[in-house]
Formats: sequence, C-alpha cells, structure tokens
Amino acid sequence: MKLILHRPVLVDEVLSFIRDGIWVDATLGTGGHTDAILTRFDEVFVYGIDRDRESLEIAKKRLGKFRDRVEFICDNFSNLEKLVSEPVRGVLFDIGLSSFQLDDARRGFSYRFDGPLDMRMDRRNGLPLQRRLRHLTRTQMEKILRNYGEERRARKIARKIYGLRDKIETTGDLRDLAGKDPRTLSRVFQAFRIFINDELKNLKEGLFSALSILEEGGRIIVISYHSLEDRIVKQFFKENDSLVALTKRPIRPSEEEIASNPRARSAKMRVAEKIDDLRLTIDN
Ligand SMILES: C[S@@+](CC[C@H](N)C(=O)[O-])C[C@H]1O[C@@H](n2cnc3c(N)ncnc32)[C@H](O)[C@@H]1O
Repeated sequence: MKLILHRPVLVDEVLSFIRDGIWVDATLGTGGHTDAILTRFDEVFVYGIDRDRESLEIAKKRLGKFRDRVEFICDNFSNLEKLVSEPVRGVLFDIGLSSFQLDDARRGFSYRFDGPLDMRMDRRNGLPLQRRLRHLTRTQMEKILRNYGEERRARKIARKIYGLRDKIETTGDLRDLAGKDPRTLSRVFQAFRIFINDELKNLKEGLFSALSILEEGGRIIVISYHSLEDRIVKQFFKENDSLVALTKRPIRPSEEEIASNPRARSAKMRVAEKIDDLRLTIDN
C-alpha cells in the first residue's frame, strides 16, 4: 500500500512563533510540523503526542534522525498535564485528521472511499461508529448532525439513518443515506467523526491542560479547520486572564498554499502567550 504522508499546513507561520525550549506537538500526526521545527531550531526538544498509534509509528521513523530531541507519546492530548511533567515553552495543536488517516479506506473517515464505518482515531478504545449507531436514538442522531455538522436537514437524515441503523456497516452505506451533495456528505461525516472521537470536549480539556504546563511567556498555537473548533479556541484565549492573543484575527493560508494543498483551505491559526504572574498582579 502506498503511504500517504500528510502535508503540514501553515508551516512558515508556525515556525515564526516558535522559540528555543521544550515544546509539545499535541497532534504529532506523521510528524510534518515537528520535522520542520526540529530542522529549523537546534535548541528545541519536542514531546510528540498522538492518540493514533499508526500515525505515531510513521512519525517515529520520520523523526528518528533527531534521536534525543524528541519523545513519542501515544495518548489523548486532553491528558497533557499528566503526560508532561515539566513547564514547556509552547504547545502546538493542529486539530482534526491527517491525510494519512483520511485517505486510508480501512479507517472509515471519508465518504470518498468504501470501507468499514469505524472513524476512531484511537482504535484501541471504544467501538467503531457502525456499532455505536445501533445504540443511538433518532433524537441523538439528529442532535449530532445539527450540533457537530451544522446540518440543516438533520432531522430528515437522522430519520433515514435511524430506520436502517442495524444494516449500516460501511462508509458507502452511510453515504447512500446522506444524499449526493458533497457538502452535505462532508457535514454528515464530520458530525459523526466529532461525536465518536469526542473532539470538542477533548479540545477544551486539551487547551486547559496546555495552559497548566505552560511557562511564563510560553505560547499556545492552534490550527483548526471548522468554525466549531475555532470558536472554542477564540473563546478560551479571550476568557483566560493569563493569556494574551498574539493574533488579533486568525492567520489563514495564502492563495499559493491553498492552490498547492487544497486541504489547507479551511485552516485558521490562532496564537496566545502566557503573561507573567507579576504583570497580572500589577494590571489588576
Ligand atoms: C491534522 S493532523 C496533524 C498533522 C501533523 N501536524 C503533521 O504535520 O503531520 C491531526 C492529528 O491529531 C491527532 N489527534 C486528534 N485529536 C487528538 C487528541 N485528542 N489527542 C491526541 N491526538 C489527537 C490525530 O490522530 C491526527 O494524527
């Protein structure tokens, strides 16, 4: 099978916010961002975290050349403060899925490929979507589609899926029930993916956890790919007195980057810095 490595987005923009020190790449994926960071900065050490073991194995091979400047951890970034026990200079989140996951039919993430309807990032835990669907009520399905997919036809689609839930086994089965419009299909698949991986809750917990291990002057960099995630990040930066946003508006990929990597199109990057406790006391 041909290995599809993920093309990291906004690499130069990420690099411009990195400073020497200990960093966490909370979404290591196949290691694209960390490769660029360790290549550019000799004085950086990275804890590379991903809940997807297969991605982590690829990253290990790719980053082997950096030997003692990187440590690999297979876990959920919501556990960050338990996984990293020293203060860090920064945490990078590049939320969502990599092309490595999306383009692998066996993972069941994409309506474009036929495969088992799994959708778990961490296949060691939980049940595949195909099994979870059997235990959801019609109302729960509708809520998932509305809240996580922002799908206007949520009720109608939920009714169809609910009616045939015991027969749904593959991505193709779900696709046939969701209709033909690629935008609807994207929203339906996104909604169930967010649900099965508990993505929004993990993001909220991950951000809190990141803040708790950040040293003064440390940075949180977040790249997100849809409005639900971006809203959480924006709100988190705004509500925490110990953080100042370094990006007033989110940074978007250039037209050139989008042309050469269409998956970058929806990316939005926000960065915040932890201000020191002394400044906090004086300001208040
Ligand atoms: C967009 S990809 C990151 C790609 C990476 N920056 C690169 O350059 O290869 C997102 C990665 O985050 C991982 N991920 C998503 N949610 C996670 C979570 N809660 N904990 C740990 N890893 C997570 C996914 O498994 C996926 O590999």
